[in-house]
Amino acid sequence: MLDFKNIIADEVKKVTNIENIYDYIEVPANKEMGDFSLPCFKLAKEMKKAPQMIATEINDKLNISKEIVSETKVINGYLNFYVNPMAIVKTVLDEIDVKKEEYGSSNIGKGKNIVVEYSSPNIAKPFHIGHLRTTLIGNSLYRIYKFLGYNTIGINHLGDYGTQFGKMIEAYNMWKDEYDLSTDPINKMMDMYVRINDLCKKDDAILEKCRENFRLLEAGDKYCTDIWNKFKELSMVEFNRIYDILDVKFDSYNGEAFYANKMNEVVEKLESKGVLKESEGARIVDLSDVGIETPCIIQKTNGSSIYATRDLAAIMYRAKTYDFDKCLYVVAYEQNLHFKQIFAVAKYLVDEKYVNGLKHVSYGMVSLPSGKMSTRLGNVVKIEELLNETIEKAKEIIEEKNPELEDKEDVAKKVGIGAIIFNTLSTSNIKDQIFDWNIALNFNGETGPYLQYMYVRTNSVLEKVGKIPNASEIDINALNDDASINLAKELYKFNSIVKQSADKNEPYIISKYLIDVAKAFSIFYNENKIICEDKKLQNARVYLTYCANIILKTGASLLGIQMPNKM
Ligand code: ARG
Repeated sequence: MLDFKNIIADEVKKVTNIENIYDYIEVPANKEMGDFSLPCFKLAKEMKKAPQMIATEINDKLNISKEIVSETKVINGYLNFYVNPMAIVKTVLDEIDVKKEEYGSSNIGKGKNIVVEYSSPNIAKPFHIGHLRTTLIGNSLYRIYKFLGYNTIGINHLGDYGTQFGKMIEAYNMWKDEYDLSTDPINKMMDMYVRINDLCKKDDAILEKCRENFRLLEAGDKYCTDIWNKFKELSMVEFNRIYDILDVKFDSYNGEAFYANKMNEVVEKLESKGVLKESEGARIVDLSDVGIETPCIIQKTNGSSIYATRDLAAIMYRAKTYDFDKCLYVVAYEQNLHFKQIFAVAKYLVDEKYVNGLKHVSYGMVSLPSGKMSTRLGNVVKIEELLNETIEKAKEIIEEKNPELEDKEDVAKKVGIGAIIFNTLSTSNIKDQIFDWNIALNFNGETGPYLQYMYVRTNSVLEKVGKIPNASEIDINALNDDASINLAKELYKFNSIVKQSADKNEPYIISKYLIDVAKAFSIFYNENKIICEDKKLQNARVYLTYCANIILKTGASLLGIQMPNKM
């Protein structure tokens, strides 16, 4: 595909001899100012001339084919480039003809490994709406990196370890006959946990028993391990139901417990580097030299390890096992300090290249508008119910709008889940969000259902004509109206949008873009009669519809959204 920015940069380089001129070229915010712009004030120092003069001189000497850049203009010290719209149309059509569903993919990641850690709920505790957000952001990043050719490893770092399991084992010993864990186990386990915690506050003897249970668990005692396994299995059954509904997968479920026997290595290495200090009986790494005031605790007073130590063991293990270029942690911003600490300690444990690859993809809070949810547990929402109720709502809407539709169940699932995924990925990660059904399921807003609806329109056009014309038969001059050009320009951006969203680890860049594509298609569809008398015109318009169809579907799949064929 023609890279217009590159072509322009090469030509400007010939005239200016400035090596990195590519980096100076911008995309103007205002479309009137062209497709690309060179802000010449940035060259003024180097070229020792006024910006307006530089722009004029470059413009005079420049020799770019009119077929590529139809016009250049000097405005206020900027040199603006207007790419020939038909060149854009042509290159998009040609590229889609070659790459089809692979349009936008690349091999920039070839030979590189990326670990994406996401979801990571805690066993015996509810999967809450914050976990939904990490699950969806992580799943999308996983798909985006794969699409760019990276070897991607998705990890669910389960919270399946820690002193709380000593308490859970004791609760189980005391009350197992009171709780039938064969139904709704997580809520019941949660209940047991709250109860034993209260008891521990009042009764030191029980607390001591809980501590002993955890010591036994750490030592691999069979009885304790069996109970702990039971909690884990019961929780996984629940979590897997959610992952199934969302179509989210992982390559590894190595969670905290997996690192229980790998923590000595961390302690030994920190010892050998001489950075482990005693502080009030605990062992810590002081990080004040890098501006982090709170030290990282490695071992508690009683010798037992903690969350951070398990994460450090995980870094060592992942470096060795996956030889990663990047290791992303999609975890809520509440854990910002934790990740700062462990990344700072990591430099004592693994090579610098791995330390540089560690990245906390931090995300904001999710809340619900009060009074609208049917089920709430404090601020913990039962996700499965949220998902199922959204599917129900989608079904009601479909029933009302299109009662004759086939496969209503399947479509309702795609629309309901698509609405949730889109809503979750429609703002930048770090922004807090409110989940509101009425907004998420609105077919006319900037929502998942709107995207799906526009996709379905492209489908019905393609279905009506039956056969997609050959790209070689298309007369691109039939697409020289504003609506067609505008749509082609949007489609052209897909490559760079996918790369940007990976660079920033922000799926919302894709979600926002897809709305632009859908809107551009909507205008194109409303202003042009696609199926018409003039077959030359029809073929060209059908082909452009086909291009939009592919990009909407591929883009949505990068977010984890499935498109219904009809709705
Ligand atoms: N289990 C934790 C939670 O639910 C998240 C784990 C994050 N990942 C990590 N490597 N520490 O809050």
